[in-house]
Amino acid sequence: MKILLTGGTGYIGSHTAVELINRGYTVEILDNLFNSKITTLDNIEEITHTKPIFHQIDLLDITSLDRLFKENKYDLVIHFAGLKAVAESIEKPLKYYHNNITGTLNLLHVMQKYSVAKLIFSSSATVYGDQDGVKLTETNQTGLGITNPYGQTKYMIEQILKDFSLANPDFSITILRYFNPVGAHSSGLIGENPNDIPNNLMPIIMKVSTGEIPELSIYGDDYDTPDGTGMRDFIHVVDLAKGHVAAINHMQKGVSTYNLGTGKTTSVMTMVKTFEKASGQSLPYKIVPRRPGDLAKVYADPSKAERELNWHADLTIEDAIQDTLRYLSHQAH
Ligand code: NAD
Ligand code: UFG
Repeated sequence: MKILLTGGTGYIGSHTAVELINRGYTVEILDNLFNSKITTLDNIEEITHTKPIFHQIDLLDITSLDRLFKENKYDLVIHFAGLKAVAESIEKPLKYYHNNITGTLNLLHVMQKYSVAKLIFSSSATVYGDQDGVKLTETNQTGLGITNPYGQTKYMIEQILKDFSLANPDFSITILRYFNPVGAHSSGLIGENPNDIPNNLMPIIMKVSTGEIPELSIYGDDYDTPDGTGMRDFIHVVDLAKGHVAAINHMQKGVSTYNLGTGKTTSVMTMVKTFEKASGQSLPYKIVPRRPGDLAKVYADPSKAERELNWHADLTIEDAIQDTLRYLSHQAH
C-alpha cells in the first residue's frame, strides 16, 4: 500500500511515517517545509532504514499537485498539512483560511480526479468549541464557541469532507480529532521543532529549558481545577501516530470520526513539575492572567477509537517528557 502524507515532515506526520514504514507501508511525503525541515527525512531513515520519497510541493500549487497525482498512484492520503498557530491565525485569518481550506480543496480535487478514494484528516479537539470539563464524545456538538480562525478551519474542513462524501460515496474518509500531542520518538531523533515561535505548552517548556525563552507564562491559576491551572488530555505523539495505523486498518466508506486522546487529564502545573523532576532542572515560570479562549479542562472520551479501531494510548506523561528530553539532547549535539 502506497501512502502519501501531506505535511509529513512535520511533528505528527514524521512520527506517523515511522510507524507506517515499520509496518511495511510505502510512504511518500509532500510538504512545503514551511514549518519543518528537510533533515527530518534523514532522521526517519536513521530510525527505519528507509528514506521516504519527498516532494517539496505546496498544496496551494494545484499544477504541481495535479502532476504528482498524475505520475503516482497512491492508495491513501493522510492529510496533516496545515498551519496551526492559534494566535497567528487571529492576526492573519486569510492566511489560515487560504492555506488550510484551499489546500484541502486542492487535495480533494486531485484525489477525486485520480480516484484516490481513501483519506485520513488531522482534525482537532478544537472543533468541540467551548464545551468545558465534559468528557468529549464524537457525538457531542461541534462548531459552537470556536474562538479562532485556526479552529474554524478544522470545523469547516470537517463539514466540507461530509459534503464531499455525500457526493462521492466511494470515498472512505476518517476524521481523527487529536487532543494535545506531546513527546517525541523514543530514539530522540524526531520531535517537535517548530520553525516559528510556538504557542503550545510543551514546545514552550522545551525552549524555556534550553534558555531560548527566559520563562514560562502560566495562563491562570484560578481555574476550577485541583491546582487552579488548566488541564488537558496530553497524548504521546507515538500513540497518536499508532492511531493512524489503526485507522488505516479500519477504513469504511463514508465519513468516520474518532477522538484520539487518553481520556485522562494533567494540569499545566503537573507538566511543569514532572518536567523539572525528569530533567533535574528548575523551570522558571510566572503566573499571568488567563489566555482568552482557554478552557479549564478539555479531555476525550477515546472509547470509540478503542472499540472500533482496536487502539489504545499506552504511554504516559513521564514517557513523553523522557522522550522530549532525549530529543532535546540530540538537538544540542
Ligand atoms: P506541523 O506544523 O509540525 O506539521 C504540519 C506540516 O504541514 C509542516 O511540515 C508544514 O510545513 C506543512 N504545511 C503547512 N501548510 C502546507 C501547505 N500549504 N503545503 C504543503 N505543506 C504544508 O504540525 P503538526 O503538529 O504535525 O500538526 C499536523 C496536523 O495536525 C495539522 O493539520 C494540525 O492542525 C493538526 N493538529 C495538531 C495538533 C497539535 O497540537 N500539534 C492538535 C490538533 C490537530
Ligand atoms: N499554557 C500555558 N502557557 C503557555 C502555553 C500554554 O499556561 O505558554 C497552558 C494553556 O493555558 C492551556 C494548556 O497550557 O491550559 C495547553 O495549552 P496549549 O496551547 O498547549 O494547547 P490548547 O489546549 O490550548 O490547544 C491545543 C492546540 C489547539 C488544539 C487543542 C486540542 O493549540 O489547536 O490543543 O487539540 F485544538
